[in-house]
Amino acid sequence: MKFKKHIFICTNDRGEESARKSCGSCGGMDLRKELVKMINDNGLKGKVRANKSGCLDVCEHGPAIVIYPEGHWYLGVEKKDLKRIFDTSILSNKPALELIADDSQLKNN
Ligand code: FES
Repeated sequence: MKFKKHIFICTNDRGEESARKSCGSCGGMDLRKELVKMINDNGLKGKVRANKSGCLDVCEHGPAIVIYPEGHWYLGVEKKDLKRIFDTSILSNKPALELIADDSQLKNN
């Protein structure tokens, strides 16, 4: 495996005019920047990767983040939640249970 953890942050942006919500216009870009900083600050560059992703198909619940290999999904992520998510999902290999997505939010339509 190339990376110990691989974080995908939806940064899809449908633009201001779109009636449909998109993560890139509700904080996704800032979340990625902050996660890259946390990775670097913790000396995990090369081991943990934070990639921008296209739409993860949970737009109405965004901004969306998913962390592999565990497949921890976090929806409606706010900047203030990132430290908790990073400390648990990345550093401790456990889901941040109070923030992790509900199965019903991940169901296909
Ligand atoms: S725009 Fe982010 S999940 Fe669709």
